[in-house]
Amino acid sequence: MSERTLAIIKPDAVKKNAVGDIINRYEQAGLKPVAIKMIHMSQSVVEGFYAVHKARPFFGSLCAFMSSGPAVVLVLQGDNAIKKNRELMGATDPAKADAGSIRKAHGANIEFNAVHGSDSPETAQFEIGYFFPGMEIFS
Ligand code: CMP
Repeated sequence: MSERTLAIIKPDAVKKNAVGDIINRYEQAGLKPVAIKMIHMSQSVVEGFYAVHKARPFFGSLCAFMSSGPAVVLVLQGDNAIKKNRELMGATDPAKADAGSIRKAHGANIEFNAVHGSDSPETAQFEIGYFFPGMEIFS
């Protein structure tokens, strides 16, 4: 079933010039970018995006990292896009990520882990709407 997911190429991956490689991996896996932009998130934009993690001990440093530089946000569309993107990304901790995954290739540790991807249809709906109005999504 074709579905959409929200992906973020995080500031660490932008800084190390990995944007092209990561988008190529999405496309080769059949995940079509149907919306894309580069943004430098403010602290409050990051706090709103990651609100579900507000009580976690790492919330403060996660928000500082995500607002430390520009990131690329994308909507990816394809069959089983949510699950497929999570497989492409690999485990949250790059040290535990499968060989060949994006986080294994470009992540440094559990915090600086190169990419984000929605984890469920409900999350995808919230996350896509957080960054993109309908008129900026092309399918
Ligand atoms: P992401 O998939 O964007 O979802 C939440 C993020 O919080 C996660 O990737 C990591 O960047 C970060 N994160 C999760 N667990 C930890 C942790 N134990 N320590 C620091 N950061 C974490």
